Amino acid sequence: MPRLVLATNNPGKVAELRRLLVGTGYEVVTPSELGVAFEVDETGATYFENAAAKARAAARAAGCLALADDSGIEVDALGGRPGVQSARYGGEGLDDRGRVELLLRELEGVPDGKRTARFRAVVVIAAPDGRILQTFEGIAEGSIAREPRGAGGFGYDPVFTVRGLGKTMAELTPEEKDAVSHRGQAVRAAAAWLRARLEHG
Ligand code: IMP
Repeated sequence: MPRLVLATNNPGKVAELRRLLVGTGYEVVTPSELGVAFEVDETGATYFENAAAKARAAARAAGCLALADDSGIEVDALGGRPGVQSARYGGEGLDDRGRVELLLRELEGVPDGKRTARFRAVVVIAAPDGRILQTFEGIAEGSIAREPRGAGGFGYDPVFTVRGLGKTMAELTPEEKDAVSHRGQAVRAAAAWLRARLEHG
């Protein structure tokens, strides 16, 4: 089975990516499982730049195809912030819970109708020689809740109410999240491309 390395060591993302890539015909591995160093400065101005840098670095280090995801949450009342800075929002000293609290503080006094937001994921596949082979994008629309709810998922999931469901991402089962999430949409398209690549050479 050919290998596909995931260009991340983030456990929340690894779990989702593995679920979504089942049945593609690739052995899905992480850089740490392969024992290869993987550290990329995510200084790009766009999700694509960051995803491409991560995919290239992982593919070169591992010597096989790599799949990278760069993602973030875009809050309309904050002019689209934190966006591409979502993982570093509030500075390096904060953890997921601290970033959620900061977001809720910034939105204090913002009425329900103006709390709209979206998760966006850009997924890039790179070859071992560093070429970018394909890019996919997924978006999940919703709004920022008044307080955290649910214990599933990671990151901003407890405060992201999914449009049309009335539940936060953290209140969904893993399968329910995959069905509606930004990453689910982008990675399902990537999985179809990967399957076709194996079938048609
Ligand atoms: P990066 O793609 O490694 O730059 O990190 C993206 C950041 O966006 C994560 O650390 C989370 O804070 C946030 N994020 C991306 N996708 C999700 C998700 O599915 N749920 C919750 N937070 C997410």
